[in-house]
Amino acid sequence: MTAILFVCLGNICRSPTAEAVFRARAAGAGLDIEIDSAGTGAWHTGQSPDSRAMEAGQMRGYDFTSQSARAVESLDFARFTHIFAMDAENLAHLESMKPKGYSGHLGLFTDFGRAQDKGQDVPDPYYGGPHGFEIVLDMIERASDGLIAALKA
Ligand code: 4NP
Repeated sequence: MTAILFVCLGNICRSPTAEAVFRARAAGAGLDIEIDSAGTGAWHTGQSPDSRAMEAGQMRGYDFTSQSARAVESLDFARFTHIFAMDAENLAHLESMKPKGYSGHLGLFTDFGRAQDKGQDVPDPYYGGPHGFEIVLDMIERASDGLIAALKA
């Protein structure tokens, strides 16, 4: 079974948004997929997503209930068939943790977005203004649609 983990730095802004968006869109597409998110850092362990991320996402109809931050761990490579980083720094961290035998897909989430998104970082919105959360949502919605199309192909 397909199991997807979204990873950012704090697991309170970008990867919880990816989890909420992808969960909604995968269900809408009739895909039965295990979905989770985690952070490369552990500072926010146990916390709910950032209130700014939740407010921006809830305005678009996404559900963040039951999300709680955690750090990525080596066992995640045994559990998830796909691990998607939100930016190049998160990806480098995951590459350094990756067990030799991992046969799943580890890469940038934006590689499934439209041409303008491929290879780009989902920008860290934590210290930015509210507009940053809209950019995060836009990029994540496009990448989610691209990933769903790829999984259905
Ligand atoms: P995220 O955003 O990686 O999208 O969850 C951040 C959250 C917290 C911090 C940095 C980025 N922080 O430095 O605490």
